[in-house]
Amino acid sequence: MAANQENGARSVNSRLENLRNLAPVERLARVAEATALGDADRQVFERGGLPLTLANGMIENVIGTFELPIGIATNFTVNGKDYLVPMAVEEPSVVAAASYMARLARVGGGFITSSTGPVMRAQIQVLNITDPHGARARILAERDAIIAAANAKDKVLIGLGGGCKDVEVHVFDDTPIGPMMIAHLIVDVRDAMGANTVNTMAETVAPLIEKITGGVVRLRILSNFADLRLARAMVRLSPETLKTSEYEGERIARGIVEACAFAIVDPYRAATHNKGIMNGIDPVVVATGNDWRAIEAGAHAWAARNGRYTSLTKWEIDTSGHLVGTLELPMALGLVGGATKTHPAAQAALKILGVTSAQELAEVTTAVGLAQNMAALRALATEGIQRGHMALHARNIAIVAGAVGDEIETVAAELAAHHDVRVDRAKELLETMRAGKA
Ligand code: COA
Repeated sequence: MAANQENGARSVNSRLENLRNLAPVERLARVAEATALGDADRQVFERGGLPLTLANGMIENVIGTFELPIGIATNFTVNGKDYLVPMAVEEPSVVAAASYMARLARVGGGFITSSTGPVMRAQIQVLNITDPHGARARILAERDAIIAAANAKDKVLIGLGGGCKDVEVHVFDDTPIGPMMIAHLIVDVRDAMGANTVNTMAETVAPLIEKITGGVVRLRILSNFADLRLARAMVRLSPETLKTSEYEGERIARGIVEACAFAIVDPYRAATHNKGIMNGIDPVVVATGNDWRAIEAGAHAWAARNGRYTSLTKWEIDTSGHLVGTLELPMALGLVGGATKTHPAAQAALKILGVTSAQELAEVTTAVGLAQNMAALRALATEGIQRGHMALHARNIAIVAGAVGDEIETVAAELAAHHDVRVDRAKELLETMRAGKA
């Protein structure tokens, strides 16, 4: 179905059946048609996304570029709107798993999401004060002057309704070097990730903070624990939707809840459980040119916010027997600035996604994380992770064994059919196949 583009509004059908069975170039044509992607953006994917001249301007000592596959997760419906989700990732079964769970979710209307405003924190460390609580009181009394100083430079952000909105002070009475006072600037960064914005503000107000407190300012930097910039996703599925030829829907729902309980109580499991969530989130973050280290740092800090590292998701069964999954985490993503603006593939990926604000991007990305978690828990609680994962990993193994062209699918299918996905077995199969042809 072609995209309907009117006054910037766009309607896409993300249920692209049989996309998996097409060649990459045919898939791109199908996705381009569905999202009304222009020729220039299509060519970014056909010819390689990042010209060397651009790459050379992005980091230092550049010697080339490094490529990853980019796939499209299908079937996503979020708040009643369909999305085709670009995912840049090296791991097999991630895109398939997200698409599968999104297909199940759309039966019940898809994912419901929400988010806070795009608010970041900058931290200003103040030392050499013997009365940190008194310094705190002095800072809070001068709140308006500090906000005005922070907002003096970035007129564009203020014009968009953003800027420094508040000041917080955290006191640490006892640190290895004595008392420490940390002033936080609370900044609405609108559609930016915001690191540069808040770092500049923190540096700008540092002399004023020294004057007010009588202390010495050292660090002036954002916090990646973006606990004021949260995105949330929720999904609800009936047992009827969940059931497979092998398992009752109630059994699958219960298995997912039990698997989540394991991650809630045990940090060893929670680390792997949350890694599975990030399997969905990071590829979208990478594809859209955002800072995946910042997203990872925020997610894991949030998971440990109550003093013990735990699951980022919760899975429950409601009174009507439906499985309900929720995910909430910091999601500091931008649409402007950084690689999001400079990387042509990130720009094209954002056009495929069709989001119009950083908050919308954050919410869709969180829905993908929830879908990914559900896929892993569903597999783990039933047939085990290896069946689906190894079947798709088999193509990798076939390539490592030396398969080329059509040989790749033939060898992969044979490996998967016998649940024997090993390189030496792939080499044997290849030798037999080639001997048969000779
Ligand atoms: N390419 C793209 N999508 C695929 C796919 C592939 N090769 N294989 C499955 N899918 C998706 C599709 O959405 C498909 O439905 P659709 O084509 O109607 O849209 C849906 O999955 C179901 O397809 P099916 O062939 O019935 O899948 P399956 O039951 O064999 O499941 C997995 C395969 C991989 C999706 C499933 O085993 C899974 O989710 N495993 C967990 C994987 C995981 O968590 N990986 C993370 C790293 S370990």
